[in-house]
Amino acid sequence: MRSVGIDDLEPGMILGADLLHSGRMLLPAGSVITSGNIVFFQRQGIGDVKVLSSPQAEPDEESAEMAFRYVRDYFMFVNHDHPAIMTMFDISVRRTAVQIMEGWKLPTYEEQTVSELDDMRDLFFRDEGKVEDVVDAEIKIASFPDIFFKVKKVVDDPTASAQEIAAVVGLDVGISAQLLKLVNSPLYGFPSKIDSLSRAVALVGSKELCTLALGLSTISYFKDIPPELIDMRKFWLHSLTCGVFAKIIAEKVDGVVPEVMFTAGLLHDVGRLIIFKKMPCSSIQAMLYARENFIPLVEAEDMTLGFNHEDVAKDMLKKWNFPSELTDIISNHHSPQDAEAKIKATILQVADNLTNAIEISNGGMYVLPGIEDGAWELLDIDADCLSSIVEEYDRQIEDLFQVFFT
Ligand SMILES: [Fe+2]
Ligand SMILES: [Fe+2]
Repeated sequence: MRSVGIDDLEPGMILGADLLHSGRMLLPAGSVITSGNIVFFQRQGIGDVKVLSSPQAEPDEESAEMAFRYVRDYFMFVNHDHPAIMTMFDISVRRTAVQIMEGWKLPTYEEQTVSELDDMRDLFFRDEGKVEDVVDAEIKIASFPDIFFKVKKVVDDPTASAQEIAAVVGLDVGISAQLLKLVNSPLYGFPSKIDSLSRAVALVGSKELCTLALGLSTISYFKDIPPELIDMRKFWLHSLTCGVFAKIIAEKVDGVVPEVMFTAGLLHDVGRLIIFKKMPCSSIQAMLYARENFIPLVEAEDMTLGFNHEDVAKDMLKKWNFPSELTDIISNHHSPQDAEAKIKATILQVADNLTNAIEISNGGMYVLPGIEDGAWELLDIDADCLSSIVEEYDRQIEDLFQVFFT
């Protein structure tokens, strides 16, 4: 998405965000701008308009070359002969080239580093504590929202009706409103509006809705992390993007429930948030170390902390009594061959790499973590489909982000 001055706006461009003026909606996101719209915006005194970068835009040679050199560094750590990685590289170079052509300035190293932390202390120094200490310290101060367990109890009861399940979900007003927005979002693309939870249960499925409720409860658990510690918007955009990719890939693989993969994507890096809360100084150190040395964050965490966000998630999700399958997939998203559900953990790993690949053109800081040898082949899908998955994502993400984070 980019900002365009009203004088440079052209018919056919696509509006990237709702256009509001004095609290009034002039045009919703996703609309194709007409010459009539442009005249109207001029009369209203609109200065800039956010438009989507055209997916069909053909980057010029100079931009493509600059993008190639810039993106190459982010693929340093991964196997260049891998079919999925090669496709991700092409996607990333193209998106970055279009951004450059449209005036994006490549970020400098300083712009990509994180701010200093004052008055922050880690729970312990390296080697003086373990993963369990980090998790126990978190659990001591806050408990996991219990709406999920209430929903799970009624979903596990074979005699419960859609109305009964809906009534229990409805106990949490925030979660039920978000669930309704989610099933009405482009992620589901139902032809007519779903205006009740019981209808959502009937259409999406009770177990599936329960899994989505779990994802939403977890997001609400972390809503009060101080913004100076981590850019939560970027963090959740990364998570949501990974969730969307994981869901779309899952739809192409037999025997995988897309909602499970969406929730797994949404929560895959949740261990990072616990590390942020309890070990802020080491977290920053790991981020800087990863950035300076072009190594994946998970490796940098191992070096600075002696453990990583997979280890923390594993212990945390067990103590929170998460479903064992989700715990297994999330705890092995960088090492899917160690998972019991290898195919699902691989979907998550591919989705995470694809997320990192498209983030590069938006100033993403980290190299691709890579796909484990032999994992991709388990999915039995064509690497070319990753490009159409990204196109599908581009059409959905703005609306979806609003569902979760406004
Ligand atoms: Fe991760
Ligand atoms: Fe990630």
